[in-house]
Amino acid sequence: MTDAVRLDDHDYKVMQGSVGPEVIDIRKYYADSGRFTYDPGFTSTASCRSTITYIDGDEGVLLHRGYSIGELAESSSFMEVAYLLLNGELPSKEAFDTFTTTITRHTMVHEQLATFFRGFRRDAHPMAIMCGVVGALSAFYHDSTDVHDPAQRVIASHRLIAKMPTLAAMAYKYSVGQPFLYPDNSLSYTGNFLRMTFGVPAEPYEVNPIVERAMDRIFILHADHEQNASTSTVRLAGSSGANPFACIAAGIACLWGPAHGGANEAALNMLREIGTPDRIPEYIARAKDKNDPFRLMGFGHRVYKNYDPRATVMQQTVREVLGALGVTDPVFDVALQLEEIALKDDYFAEKKLFPNVDFYSGVILSAIGFPTSMFTALFALARTVGWVAQWNEMITDPDQKIGRPRQLYAGATARPYLPVGQR
Ligand code: ACO
Repeated sequence: MTDAVRLDDHDYKVMQGSVGPEVIDIRKYYADSGRFTYDPGFTSTASCRSTITYIDGDEGVLLHRGYSIGELAESSSFMEVAYLLLNGELPSKEAFDTFTTTITRHTMVHEQLATFFRGFRRDAHPMAIMCGVVGALSAFYHDSTDVHDPAQRVIASHRLIAKMPTLAAMAYKYSVGQPFLYPDNSLSYTGNFLRMTFGVPAEPYEVNPIVERAMDRIFILHADHEQNASTSTVRLAGSSGANPFACIAAGIACLWGPAHGGANEAALNMLREIGTPDRIPEYIARAKDKNDPFRLMGFGHRVYKNYDPRATVMQQTVREVLGALGVTDPVFDVALQLEEIALKDDYFAEKKLFPNVDFYSGVILSAIGFPTSMFTALFALARTVGWVAQWNEMITDPDQKIGRPRQLYAGATARPYLPVGQR
């Protein structure tokens, strides 16, 4: 381990995290050298110090506060993972009960928000609605928008986590023309969400425990993922002191893109298009063809170059859900065989392309009954926990500054303005 590296005749401190690569502190580099560094997409740049989530992409490791994602998905619950991400430790029984009760008590949304929904077109995409209504929470909860007040930050965090299922279910109900359902506080976080989504006021809704468990596990798998694009968006928006509701709305907007949260929708569409296992070789050939822009959706990851550990849990969960619901979806056979064929293929092995979390999640969500347009909204619901935890960490970080990247300017240099008649 080195203490410093020398660049342009100046020494720069080498920082060592608890695990992971060393990081060179280049904050003074411009002041010392008059030069910027160039790193579009932040492929080599740490934008913050964090204690929340650790990923080792080469080894396929994902840890939240030190606990492996596999163990959390197997033995924990989404509420417990939410507590862990926010507070740094697993809760005692008493702390867990208090936290769950607090979240449960914040599940209702201001009645006037329902009116807000009615301003959207009936066929609006749920993510368009979510961007709007989550940002609009700052217009309803003025008593939790002061980011400098720790008590207000806690209330805003609880409100966001508690109200996301209600808002996501309302977005769904609105799109199918059914009445909104109020939360039922006797149910679990996830059971309540399923009832608000699939229940109707005309008859009782019974939560299927296998579906509830699978959904809860999907929420755990999406709860946080270090400094990805949407989380970095939330941090950047928050770095100016913007209120948390506005910051999470910014994260939702970023998540919407097909290279990020929209990939599970694209993966399911691709599997449906392939349709039957005999057509797999044709699609594998297309994915390998340099002249064809087609990519195997749900394959590859910027960070994981071994295996996405979330994909393993997801594959087991598909089996459970399809079995429990008695659904025989041919798309699952296509997914299993496509994975097997691709993993044996030299092209995918050489480029270290493996299934990511999105490869199987669409199959499960569709079996549960969600339309593809809801997939990213579910991701946003779960990721809100991570966004909120990361936002809180950023606000309390003494190194925190307003985010202000530099640029490599390649445009015109100074030139005189000519009146329109002389151009
Ligand atoms: N199918 C076929 N080839 C692929 C795929 C794929 N899914 N992914 C990458 N490659 C190839 C590229 O063509 C490239 O080949 P080359 O070196 O010959 O040019 C090489 O692998 C590296 O690809 P990059 O795009 O440079 O890798 P990067 O790390 O930037 O991209 C990404 C990662 C965007 C996820 C990419 O793998 C991809 O587009 N996958 C499909 C979309 C997807 O599933 N996204 C979900 C990500 S997970 C999430 O957001 C929750």
